[in-house]
Amino acid sequence: MTYKVTKVVFPVAGLGTRFLPATKAVPKEMLPIVDKPLMQYAVEESIAAGIDTMIFITGRSKNSIMDHYDKAYEMEKELEARNKTEILNLLRSIIPPHIKCVFIRQPEALGLGHAVYCALPAVGNEPFAVILPDDLIYDGERGCMKQMVDLYAQTQSSILGVERVDPSETDKYGIVRTGESKGSYANIEHIVEKPKPDVAPSNLAVVGRYILNPGIFDKIKNTGRGAGGEIQLTDAIADLMKDEQVLAFEFEGKRYDCGAKLGFLVANVEYGLLHKELKHDFLAYLKDLSATL
Ligand code: G1P
Repeated sequence: MTYKVTKVVFPVAGLGTRFLPATKAVPKEMLPIVDKPLMQYAVEESIAAGIDTMIFITGRSKNSIMDHYDKAYEMEKELEARNKTEILNLLRSIIPPHIKCVFIRQPEALGLGHAVYCALPAVGNEPFAVILPDDLIYDGERGCMKQMVDLYAQTQSSILGVERVDPSETDKYGIVRTGESKGSYANIEHIVEKPKPDVAPSNLAVVGRYILNPGIFDKIKNTGRGAGGEIQLTDAIADLMKDEQVLAFEFEGKRYDCGAKLGFLVANVEYGLLHKELKHDFLAYLKDLSATL
C-alpha cells in the first residue's frame, strides 16, 4: 500500500435543505463565498496539500459542480476573441492541467458513510482524504489538509480534523474522547455521532476533514444505519479503531460552518475583508454601517 495521499473524496450529494430556497436548483457547494463557490475552496485546499485526484460523489441536480470542473469551451473562445486574458487565465486556473476529476453518482442519500463507500472503485487500496466543502477552513499559512497530509506522512494513521465547540452544540457533530496529547494530536479512544450535550464524551468535534486508511471501506460495508437512520462514517471509524489507531488532530486555522446561514454570512464578511480588490471599500462600508447601528 502506498502511504502518499493523492486522492480526495468530496461527498456532495446532500440535498442542502437548510439553505432552501437558494439550493432548490443550485447545489449548496456552489454557493459563493465572495466570488468563489465553496466547492472551489475545497479543491484548492486539496491541490495545496499535493493531492491530484478529486473524486466527487454527486447526486441529482448537482450537474453544475461537474460543469464547474469541465472546460468552458464557448466562454474561453469568447474571452480569447475579446482579449480578456486575465479572466481567461482565471477561468483556466480553476482546474490545473495535472488534476484529474472523477464523478460518481450516489444513487440514494443514505448518509456520509455510504457516500464515502461509493468512492471505493476510484480510491482502491490507498489512504485518501475526505473534505466536506461546507466546513470552510481559512488556509492562512498552511492549509488544513496540508497539515493533515504532513502528519499522515509521519504516522500513517487515519486522522480526523477536530476542534472544540460550544458544549451545547455536541449534537451537531461527531464527538471524540482522546488519550494523552502529543501536541497537536492525540489518539482517539471513543467516538460517537451527534451525542446530546448531557451524554457527550467531550466537546471535541470532528469537522469536515479526514484522512482515512482504506480499511475503512470494509468497516463501512458492515455498518448498519446509525444516528438519523443514516449509514454514518463515524460508526465505521469507531469500528476501524478496533484494528488500528485513529488520531484526532487540532489543526491551525479558522473554520466557518457554511452549512449554517450565520456561518455562511460570517465567512462572506471575513473573506470580503481579506479580498485584495474589495477589502478597503468593504471595510469603509462596514465602518459606515456600524456607525448607523
Ligand atoms: C458530518 C459528520 C459529523 C461531522 C460533521 C462535520 O455531519 O457526520 O460527524 O462532525 O459532518 O461538519 P453532517 O454535518 O453532515 O450532519
